[in-house]
Amino acid sequence: MTAPLTGVASAPAAVLCGLGSWVPPRVVTNEELASRLDTDDRWIRSRTGIGSRHLAEQGQATSDLAVEAGRSALRSAGSPHADAVLVATTTPDRLCPATAPLVAARLGLCGAAAFDIAAVCTGFVYGLATACALITSGTARRVLLVGADTYSAVVDPEDRANAVIFGDGAGAVVLRAGHTGEPGAVGPFDLGSDGTHEEMIMIAAGGSRLRTASGEHARRDSHFAMRGKEVYRQAVRRMSDSARAVLAQGGWTVGEVDHLVPHQANLRILHSVADVLELPRERCVTHLEKVGNTGAASIPLALADAARRGVFRPGDRLLLTAFGGGLTWGSSLLTWPDAPV
Ligand code: UT7
Repeated sequence: MTAPLTGVASAPAAVLCGLGSWVPPRVVTNEELASRLDTDDRWIRSRTGIGSRHLAEQGQATSDLAVEAGRSALRSAGSPHADAVLVATTTPDRLCPATAPLVAARLGLCGAAAFDIAAVCTGFVYGLATACALITSGTARRVLLVGADTYSAVVDPEDRANAVIFGDGAGAVVLRAGHTGEPGAVGPFDLGSDGTHEEMIMIAAGGSRLRTASGEHARRDSHFAMRGKEVYRQAVRRMSDSARAVLAQGGWTVGEVDHLVPHQANLRILHSVADVLELPRERCVTHLEKVGNTGAASIPLALADAARRGVFRPGDRLLLTAFGGGLTWGSSLLTWPDAPV
């Protein structure tokens, strides 16, 4: 009699089976920003690694970007179906309701469970963990997870520190029920937060704490604000600690990692994380030169770009790590699937 499959290799897992991305067509180069802000291409490239970014037009909302990326991920998965739709975003269409139900409806997925994930730039990794939990608990068999942000809606266009960094975009994955041993399996996860540093990355007004921005700080309070230097240090520390923790959980050594796919915050941050982990910088997947920091969209956009360029081979081991406001951080492991996504 054949023994039933037991152990790690047969444990339920979420498996990557679809990948898609979309950025608004409008490209804003460093030169264009320099024509209206006190900055220049050299400063931006040397301090951030960013050469250009895509910005949404007035009236183009996060759901518009998310629908395009979601549609392309479903197409790549070979099926228009999903039982749950998650949208990781810091820039939802509205404070209420969530953006995910609208995205689901526009993708023909009315009736699916749908909700937003709010973990700022860590949103995609938190979303992956949530999608995996829905699948491994048997609540869903197929989940569409979109990371989408329209930072141009919240960044003050006159704020040179942030205007040069952030861009708009959306990336999406489809996850299906499967098993831990198969290529495409996602997990384990390391997730964390530290709310004592709430003020490091913040949009102060518009929520229940400060309902409307007014007075002398009205402009600042109604826009995205970030303490760049402190965030930089936290980002390197948190992503590298979290990456190490998830590698230990998964039983992978650093040497076994084929590709590090970090949240695309700043090229110097990404290289520092690789250096701390003692991973060759060439193994670090970067896409921010063309799109900037796209928040919750950055990891799936980087995955989609690298997949398009043929960077990943079936069975390659990927280490994903992210850091963002909250503070929040998180990491996960992924073996690249056999079938093209
Ligand atoms: O996605 C969430 C996570 N986000 C991040 O991880 C971003 C983390 N932080 C960073 O990437 C970097 O801190 C920045 C790119 C935001 C800034 O780089 P930095 O090397 O930390 O520069 P800084 O803030 O220390 O500024 C250095 C100088 C300052 O001038 P002074 O005080 O030395 O005279 C700034 O005023 O650069 C000036 N500066 C600029 N100069 C030209 C700031 N922004 C600009 C600019 N162009 N766009």
